[in-house]
Amino acid sequence: MNTAKILISDDDQTLCYLLKEELVSEGYQVDIVFDGKYAIENLKKKNYDVLLLDLEMTEVHGEEVLVYANEHNPSTKVIILTAKTDIRTAIDCIKRGAYDFIPKPYEFGQLLVVIERALEHKNLQIKNAILANKLSKNVPHSIVGESRTIREVIGLAERAAKSDSNILLEGETGTGKELFAEFIHKNSNRDSKPLVAINCASLPDQLMESELFGYEKGAFTDAKTSKQGLVEIANGGTLFLDEIGELSLTLQPKLLRFLEKGEFRRVGGVTNLTSNVRVIGATNKNLMEEAENKTFRRDLLFRLNVITLTIPPLRERGKDVILLSNYFLQKNSPVKSVKTLSADAEVTMTNYSWPGNVRELAHTIERALIFSDSSEIKVKDLNLPQSSMASHNGVYDADGEVYSLDLIELSHIKKVLDEFNWNREVTAKALGIAQKTLYSKIKKYNLK
Ligand SMILES: Nc1ncnc2c1ncn2[C@@H]1O[C@H](COP(=O)(O)OP(=O)(O)OP(=O)(O)O)[C@@H](O)[C@H]1O
Ligand SMILES: [Mg+2]
Repeated sequence: MNTAKILISDDDQTLCYLLKEELVSEGYQVDIVFDGKYAIENLKKKNYDVLLLDLEMTEVHGEEVLVYANEHNPSTKVIILTAKTDIRTAIDCIKRGAYDFIPKPYEFGQLLVVIERALEHKNLQIKNAILANKLSKNVPHSIVGESRTIREVIGLAERAAKSDSNILLEGETGTGKELFAEFIHKNSNRDSKPLVAINCASLPDQLMESELFGYEKGAFTDAKTSKQGLVEIANGGTLFLDEIGELSLTLQPKLLRFLEKGEFRRVGGVTNLTSNVRVIGATNKNLMEEAENKTFRRDLLFRLNVITLTIPPLRERGKDVILLSNYFLQKNSPVKSVKTLSADAEVTMTNYSWPGNVRELAHTIERALIFSDSSEIKVKDLNLPQSSMASHNGVYDADGEVYSLDLIELSHIKKVLDEFNWNREVTAKALGIAQKTLYSKIKKYNLK
């Protein structure tokens, strides 16, 4: 089945309706808009696989839409629909990132081939990215995300990577702190040297110390030979201290000394050794508060948080939920039959608050793939707890856009319908609207 999403933007309304009908009968999900202005609005709200874009439109020109799509929806393939007389501009558009163009008038069959080719191209790109990750464990996974919130942090991380300062990564569990640490190392001048990671909550105090700083022969009963610590192994590279808030108050001054002077002593050693590493710490605690409570040294915090990157929770990343879902669907399905999310499943996932963030989302998709018995993932396959459904309380979404009334209406109608088991009479009454109005809204929002 073809569940790819297509947006048609053309001021020729008849053409839009005809084309939509033809594409829908091929199984595509199709939205239409009659001006570039609305194309951009839709691109903000939804991830389209393909955009069929006319150039001459009344208010906002197709070229402007292309620029927007390139910047904000890089995974959407843009196909330019253009009059024969305007081929030059179409070619310019290809140079500027459009996938292809089709001169009008065209045959539907011809257009269909171009669309299918664009979709194949898109899938190949995703597959390649995944394969590249699988080949070498050292290449960090790409950070999937197009929302403004995550793009901002990625931009900061790129810049921070080039500096040699220590970095503190803050964020809830599962937001991708470790992924960011790998990303920063990979983009730094230290990437030819090792990235060494340790979880500060994983070992009791004494073991932690010898793991970090090493030990000398005879330092304790089992120390038959001397051993290098992780700070030595990471020399020239990066040391990632995960859950750094858990580091004990006895080890904190030792780490502080290392951060200040690059000096340390092995356990049982008498000489000062040196090593040159950049430290990236990660925490899901508020270390400022910990410092107030004297459970984390303030001087250590100030050494660490020269640069602080706050990784936003998934619920603040808008349409990235769907983007990431598709990424994990691709990653976990056999190459030939990648499953897709049903429209309701998309709504449910978008409304869910994801307390476990990207990790929870990855597990949800993995589980849904096991339990789903068709080519589409349904709401029941997701098995998400009802109590954590977020409501649109804020005014702005992740892209800093005000929630549109349509979105609020859609999500509210959906919730009330679910509440009353899709009894339209009761739902309409509860909402204070006529049943006919409810029907037209169900149709408008394609609720199922
Ligand atoms: N933006 C993203 N794109 C692709 N994969 C992601 C993204 N963010 C997180 N992941 C994946 O989600 C999982 C959890 O991420 P990660 O381990 O980096 O989170 P964390 O913040 O370190 O969590 P914790 O605080 O629980 O240690 C990993 O498998 C990671 O690869
Ligand atoms: Mg982690």
